[in-house]
Amino acid sequence: MTDVLIIGGGIIGLSTAIALSQKGASVTVVERDICGQGATWAAAGMLAPEAERLEGSLLGFGIRSRDMYPQWIANLMRLSGLDCGYWCCGMIAPSIEEGDHQIIAKYPQYISQEESHKRQSGLGEVVLGSLWLPEDGQVNNRKLTQALLTAARSLSIKILEGVNVYQVVCDHQRDHQRVTHLDTSVGKLQSDRYVLATGAWTRSLLPLPVKPIKGQMLSVFDRDRHLQRVIYAPSCYIVPRQDGTIVIGATVEDKGFEQGITAVGIAQLLNRAIAIYPAIANMPITETWWGFRPYAPNEIPILGASDYENLVLATGHYRNGILFAPITAKLISDFIIDGITDPIFQ
Ligand code: FAD
Ligand code: GLY
Repeated sequence: MTDVLIIGGGIIGLSTAIALSQKGASVTVVERDICGQGATWAAAGMLAPEAERLEGSLLGFGIRSRDMYPQWIANLMRLSGLDCGYWCCGMIAPSIEEGDHQIIAKYPQYISQEESHKRQSGLGEVVLGSLWLPEDGQVNNRKLTQALLTAARSLSIKILEGVNVYQVVCDHQRDHQRVTHLDTSVGKLQSDRYVLATGAWTRSLLPLPVKPIKGQMLSVFDRDRHLQRVIYAPSCYIVPRQDGTIVIGATVEDKGFEQGITAVGIAQLLNRAIAIYPAIANMPITETWWGFRPYAPNEIPILGASDYENLVLATGHYRNGILFAPITAKLISDFIIDGITDPIFQ
């Protein structure tokens, strides 16, 4: 028995567990696989509310979370002693078609073709001009996962890996509904409160409008490490890590949980990436992979109260769950421990 039981050990479940624990709660995380091997492992790690062109309250939400990153990472590094590859490298968002170029040329962040080359040498001729977004950056999501796990263990958060939750079992009274326990592969698990952080697999436990959107990715290795900015182009982004790895992504496919890499997916990404940054043509391919983004309607995460008084929702982070992790963890822990509701809660 713990105060809070979190279903799902991705970035959202682990970040929320740490925030709750640092507010004094005892926390258990239940993960059917190994923590951080879902969308959290597959991501590019961009912290890009502006490059992703988020709008309205979602843009504000993303900027708040991006602004929380420096302190959030410092806390994780202090608890874990591990580096997370957090890098405020700035982003170049180029236009490669005349129509798009006419549009971005009106933005205050617009820089010309010549200025784009000054910010990052080696750009291809297809780049007509760009938006320069100095505050967008990146984190190495795989390193971050290790730091989250180590930090969670340092706070005595119980992590149950290899435990599949089959059913959220509820008691339906006339005036209220409560979760009584979880039916799992190791039997019944019980807690005062529950958090659902099951990413793209959420519908297998509750009828929420979350579906998987597949993304294929690859990486190459840049021995020279000339690329120092994220390049975020239409249909392709290029993310240089500090160790010379360059992550290239990603396809956007509405095909359920269809597994695997396709030749056409990787060909499209590589053709576009080589046109934008031609040096990639001669770099060795080091890895290909895919993952499932948890899509929710209007791309807005599903956060806060559910139909069950002791079950809180933290899912549907779609393309920006790495970016949204610090603010999600804060808002969910404020809600559970202090009863504070943020307007972003639906
Ligand atoms: P997940 O990491 O998928 O974790 C959910 C966990 O729940 C899984 O580990 C799963 O095994 C577990 N689980 C599910 N059901 C059960 C059950 N019944 N019992 C027990 N455990 C269960 N975001 C960014 O901010 N920047 C990016 O650059 C970026 N790039 C991306 C690129 C790709 C290709 C993809 C696929 C995603 C990208 N994202 C990015 C989005 C981001 O990865 C996700 O929004 C984020 O990882 C969601 O985190 P999560 O913890 O909700 O889900
Ligand atoms: N945010 C990048 C992606 O989802 O592919």
